[in-house]
Amino acid sequence: MTFTRSIKIAPSILSADFANFGQEIQAIEQQGADWVHVDVMDGHFVPNLTFGPPAVKAFRPHVKTVMDVHLMISPVDAYIDAYADAGADILTAHLEAGPHIHRTLQAIRGAGMKAGLALNPGTPAEAVTHLLDLTDLICVMTVNPGFGGQKFIDMTAKIRALRSMIGDRPVHIEIDGGVTPDTAPLVAAAGADVLVAGSAVFKGGSVTDPAPYGANIRAIRDAASAAAP
Ligand code: DX5
Ligand code: ZN
Repeated sequence: MTFTRSIKIAPSILSADFANFGQEIQAIEQQGADWVHVDVMDGHFVPNLTFGPPAVKAFRPHVKTVMDVHLMISPVDAYIDAYADAGADILTAHLEAGPHIHRTLQAIRGAGMKAGLALNPGTPAEAVTHLLDLTDLICVMTVNPGFGGQKFIDMTAKIRALRSMIGDRPVHIEIDGGVTPDTAPLVAAAGADVLVAGSAVFKGGSVTDPAPYGANIRAIRDAASAAAP
């Protein structure tokens, strides 16, 4: 994975057909996805349940790009090795998931993955001040995590603050929640480079009719790229 700030689209398979993950992953990659975003929820940190390590491991052979695993679980540390074994390229933990996020980020890198740090809408940019050299990606949540299809919450000021704090460090800014061709330019202009999108990518398409996935990905990418600094 070479670092670049060009716009990357990461469809969330939370909006895919749950009976067909292998084909859905192949379809979004063929239609231009840069990364594949996997939302892991535990029914405790967030009020919803999704995939455990065996499911994520089963997705792995289908992902030819980057498997970006977003943990919405607490605690985190006991599961890091299992997600490394499942083949995550990037493992993102929430800053709010426990008292020892510094240790968690060290452990994620120690297990051979890129370390992501997610911030809920209520968490300020300044909370990452002492974590910037331990992280490869900051995920700015633009919804309260737990469900796809929620309304975008404007976090533009937080994104700008993070972009300035990051400086020259090779740290991605990822946006997660409510990304559409309408909201993508706002976050790209503020300095985001990875855009997660679930409902806005999968709407209108299917594994037997995947062309709408491609059109949806292009619409988000074009809107974001035109606004990017
Ligand atoms: C929210 C998840 C997101 C979500 C995005 O808890 O982390 O990745 O699936 O879905 P949309 O794009 O539909 O808001
Ligand atoms: Zn996510």
